[in-house]
Amino acid sequence: MSEKTANHSTRPMINGGFPKPPFWLTSVLICGLVGSLLLVATLLRSRFSHSSSPRVHFIQDMDNQIKVKTQHASEVFDDGRAIRPKIAGTVSRQNYYPDEHLAHGFTQTWDASKNVWNVTFDTEFPQVIKVDAALLAHGQKKFNTYCMPCHGYDGMGNGPVNFRAAEIQSNGVAGMSWVQPSNLTDAARVARQDGHIYNTITNGIRNMAGYGAAIPDPHDRWAIVAYVRALQVSGAGHTASAAPATQPVAMK
Ligand code: HEC
Repeated sequence: MSEKTANHSTRPMINGGFPKPPFWLTSVLICGLVGSLLLVATLLRSRFSHSSSPRVHFIQDMDNQIKVKTQHASEVFDDGRAIRPKIAGTVSRQNYYPDEHLAHGFTQTWDASKNVWNVTFDTEFPQVIKVDAALLAHGQKKFNTYCMPCHGYDGMGNGPVNFRAAEIQSNGVAGMSWVQPSNLTDAARVARQDGHIYNTITNGIRNMAGYGAAIPDPHDRWAIVAYVRALQVSGAGHTASAAPATQPVAMK
């Protein structure tokens, strides 16, 4: 009996044991192996190489739309600008306080001869703000949250941020400059109108940023003004302390 008939197969034997796999199976396996390596290679390549063209974006959803952004040009409008000016007389429905004194702490008058706005800061608290112990306590809370880090608990300009900045500066960090927060209890700050201090909180002054966005409620900002006034009274005659005041000022 020949080997062929004994195995019921026409395929040659390997090492006398297993039949040689058919050609199509070998080809499919080799192609599959190469294909999977190519896939891994392509993935690795895209993972570690850089491209200046945007990545392939399969699912578009509404990610890419025809739209105009601020500072973009638009042919739709005569002046060629996409951003539209506010319509005269528009009133914001958010954070809108019709009481100008409460909202701004100053009044503006237009001087047509000089083409400038003249600003007059209010010298008193708005009528709707009742200056009492509750307002001071509220002001203290807000002051210790938003102002203390720079101005210190006692308002003398030596809060922890200033302390740290001075420390960094003394180590000689190249290019660093730091303006010490003002001593809120000095004569110049005592002489400021209430509206001036209020406006400093809202819009900032010189190197200090405004806190109007962080403290959006005018009542909170006026409470801080009241507390700054209290600090001025309690700090009058004191000289700025060298060490930061580490404790909130005690209030009765
Ligand atoms: C990140 C630090 C920082 C914070 C927080 C900060 N200030 Fe100031 N503030 C300064 C600096 C710095 C100056 C001095 C700016 C200058 O002279 O250029 C200043 C100046 C001032 C002045 C003096 C302005 C004048 O009339 O000359 C007042 C008042 C004041 N800050 C109040 C506040 C109040 C109130 C808060 C909290 C709502 C506050 N600051 C939060 C850094 C800060």
